[in-house]
Amino acid sequence: MKRKACAEVGIKSFDVDLPEQVSEADLVKQVHELNVNPDIHGILVQLPLPRHINEEKVLTEISLEKDVDGFHPLNIGKLSMKGREPLFVPCTPKGCLELLHRSGVSIKGKKAVVVGRSNIVGLPVSMLLLKEDATVTIVHSRTSEPERIIREADIVIAAAGQPMMVKGSWIKPGAAVIDVGTNAVDDPTKKSGYRLVGDVDFEEASKVAGWITPVPGGVGPMTVTMLLQNTLEGAKRKLEQSN
Ligand code: GUN
Repeated sequence: MKRKACAEVGIKSFDVDLPEQVSEADLVKQVHELNVNPDIHGILVQLPLPRHINEEKVLTEISLEKDVDGFHPLNIGKLSMKGREPLFVPCTPKGCLELLHRSGVSIKGKKAVVVGRSNIVGLPVSMLLLKEDATVTIVHSRTSEPERIIREADIVIAAAGQPMMVKGSWIKPGAAVIDVGTNAVDDPTKKSGYRLVGDVDFEEASKVAGWITPVPGGVGPMTVTMLLQNTLEGAKRKLEQSN
């Protein structure tokens, strides 16, 4: 999807495919080569990485100016601090906020509940909502009575990776629901043998919500779009610096 979208807008992209057994040192070496290549404005290390590789170490080695995923600890740190701006905002969280803005959903002073606390989505999207003056609650696997908390939310961001976990009866009427989940579930009627479902029971929740994103076709394409936007921003920043 990322490759296709780059081609559509005229961003040159290429893959560095490495074997699963690649050593951490060799992977870091590759990242360093991309860091110093002046023709490259964005680097994305596709996650998850094999278990023998230290994800934090690899992500820390990506040049800050090229960290279009926004996963460098310094970017995440700045994202989490009041009055600081990261160079890049992680793509999925950025896409979630873009969806809310473009749909005219007001965030300031609203109750937002984020389901899930991953480094990729749950945590950074919570920080973005907080920066926009929402009152943010994070529901996770150890939270008691998640339904009760979610039912109070004006904005629900579901990013737990649990198929159809959020039921229609958990949604406050009129709430904005963003479903980040992409879970493959068995479906013998499909040629592939599976279909993708979100973390929200769309059928039920769409009858109650004021706004809701479908899976597939909601957050996924926005994530890719934000990746392109980050890459463009990175390239522009580089150009401004050299002028
Ligand atoms: N794996 C799942 N989501 C993402 C993402 O946003 N970026 C990267 N690099 N890997 C992922």
